Amino acid sequence: MKINQNEITPETLFENRRKFIKLGAASVVASSTLMELMAKENLPTSDLSYKKDTNPNNLELNTYKQITSYNNFYEFTTSKEGVKHMAHTLVTTPWTIEIDGLVEKPFTIDMQDIMKKYSLEERIYRFRCVEGWSMVVPWIGFELGKFIKDCKPLSDAKYVRFETLWDDEMFPDQARGVFGNIKRYPYVEGLRMDEAMNPLTILSVGLYGKTLENQNGAPIRLVVPWKYGFKSIKSIAKISFVKDEPLNSWQEMAPHEYGFYANVNPKVDHPRWSQKRERVLGELFKQKTLMFNGYEKEVAHLYKGMDLRKNF
Ligand code: MTE
Repeated sequence: MKINQNEITPETLFENRRKFIKLGAASVVASSTLMELMAKENLPTSDLSYKKDTNPNNLELNTYKQITSYNNFYEFTTSKEGVKHMAHTLVTTPWTIEIDGLVEKPFTIDMQDIMKKYSLEERIYRFRCVEGWSMVVPWIGFELGKFIKDCKPLSDAKYVRFETLWDDEMFPDQARGVFGNIKRYPYVEGLRMDEAMNPLTILSVGLYGKTLENQNGAPIRLVVPWKYGFKSIKSIAKISFVKDEPLNSWQEMAPHEYGFYANVNPKVDHPRWSQKRERVLGELFKQKTLMFNGYEKEVAHLYKGMDLRKNF
């Protein structure tokens, strides 16, 4: 993934200019108003009730500030520190998820109904990005498997395909077309059905006891803790049950760098990043990366007999 730390200022200005154009005030911009817009933060989050994780592995949590201030969300910008300043344009109420493909009956479900239907639990997980950094996040959510059962997939549904919302008013990078960070939006991800049904895989609606901030993928995102972070697609608007392996966005853009599986594996390097070690956000020294990000016991059986170099 390209990282351009210098992008933050032009990106933010670009975004605010779009806002002014919409307000019909493109030509004269009072600098105080501009500053006000630039300082605007997201809507406040609300508290959730959930069952706490006992944290049996005694993982040391990253802070709320770290988790919400260093993000990958290419629909806004490639600047990790810049995302939180731009993410206020994402409107998450109302929000629906469309379910289609190989299911008994396609349907659309409202976020409010999702929140009523599924009881929430905390899952403290390691989260490892393919770029070589990691963090520990106390996610709040529910098992994707429970949701899938309620979707009533047909027996020939072998994969689950996810899409982020497509809305170029809310996501500035989607308006850039082929000049965007992702060549073809919406952002797409996928899981094999048994990966999706694994009890570790969750749909997350919050972290640290609060609903998700926009920069972390509000109102609902995937979290697959044994895979590189790019599999954990944000702001999901569509879930499809399909027969064939979905082509995920990163594989489509750089097939020699990104595959479908993206399991954390210290033995298989990315062409640009060694995967042997990782830097936990806030730590000075790197630590060893664990096979399947430390979830080998829970998931290794899913890949028995598979060549993990080929299926990277
Ligand atoms: N989902 C969408 N829609 N767009 C993105 O750019 N980035 C991915 C993933 N999900 C991304 C996305 C990547 S590369 C990572 S590492 C994680 O989100 C980052 O999640 P975080 O910002 O909550 O840490």
